[in-house]
Amino acid sequence: MTQDKKQILTGDRPTGKLHLGHWVGSIKNRVALQKEYTCHFIIADLHTLTTKPFKAEILETRHHIHDMVLDWLASGIDPTLSTVYLQSAVPQVYELNLLFEMLVSLNRLTGLPSLKEMARNANLSDESVSFGLVGYPVLQSADILLSRAHLVPVGKDNESHIELTRDIARRFNQYYGEVFPLPEVLLSTIPSLIGTDGKGKMSKSAANAIFLSDDVKTVEKKIRGMYTDPQRIRADIPGTTEGNPLFIYHDEFNPHKGEVEEMKKRYREGKIKDVEVKERLNEEIQLFLTPFREKRREFEARKGYVEKVIYEGTLKMREAAEATLKEVRGAMGLVGSWNKISRVARNEIQA
Ligand code: TRP
Repeated sequence: MTQDKKQILTGDRPTGKLHLGHWVGSIKNRVALQKEYTCHFIIADLHTLTTKPFKAEILETRHHIHDMVLDWLASGIDPTLSTVYLQSAVPQVYELNLLFEMLVSLNRLTGLPSLKEMARNANLSDESVSFGLVGYPVLQSADILLSRAHLVPVGKDNESHIELTRDIARRFNQYYGEVFPLPEVLLSTIPSLIGTDGKGKMSKSAANAIFLSDDVKTVEKKIRGMYTDPQRIRADIPGTTEGNPLFIYHDEFNPHKGEVEEMKKRYREGKIKDVEVKERLNEEIQLFLTPFREKRREFEARKGYVEKVIYEGTLKMREAAEATLKEVRGAMGLVGSWNKISRVARNEIQA
């Protein structure tokens, strides 16, 4: 890995196709970061196991990995600049995870609010929370320190995991000598994008998402059905633009700021129909999605392209990971026992 640029590690659990919420919340930022930093994007399929351990779920994840990476690439994640890798195919992370498990107290892990949050999202009762789910942030620390990342762009929900990573790195260095740089969080302050139903954040499970890969007709239909100001049963009733998903999306995807302000004004005065606002939004979102769709089609047509990107990135990460692990094993004095045993044994066998 080149050491001149600062290293970044970030990524996601593979949950499938990306939607506008992913774009606004993280992808857009990642695409921009590639120019300034050496970026590594993790497909965190081992983390998926913490709440989805069944075979059928693992097989489903396989499709999610393909869909997600295809969307990453079509969004502008550039494999000539960045590394995309599959977590489960880097054996060193399992090893480092175990070693890190000794450097953090159980209390610290069970006290993290993210644990309760993840258990709730996965509908798990306290009794069915696995050891692995409790260890989720330890595994994440292993990802981060394995790659020797300096910066980790994540959302608020992951902030405590980076804090924990720093504690683990500090403790490791204290016990065994300076091996790890202390990573810093690059906190995303962007609030999550509201869904088309106006109820909560955009998510696949809430069925309120516009996917980057949705076709023209689907997007049009979703926008036409979007939640707006419910009080406004007629176009001449003054409406609310604040918190209205239509205008939140206009602010995000319509580059004509003057026009957006003008529409808001007319909306508040009861001088524009919702359909008109929706039609303009549809036009702008379609324009936004056009280059994405073209690239996605192109990459999809190149058989094996996605696989090649993941394959090459993973091999690269394995190499970097092994270099880190060699240092770790050496610093901990772990290799000593086996080396000595093998040396003596080989002499004995030869004799
Ligand atoms: N925890 C992240 C999520 O919420 C995924 C992840 C796993 C990650 N390992 C990482 C993010 C390392 C940043 C760095 O999906």
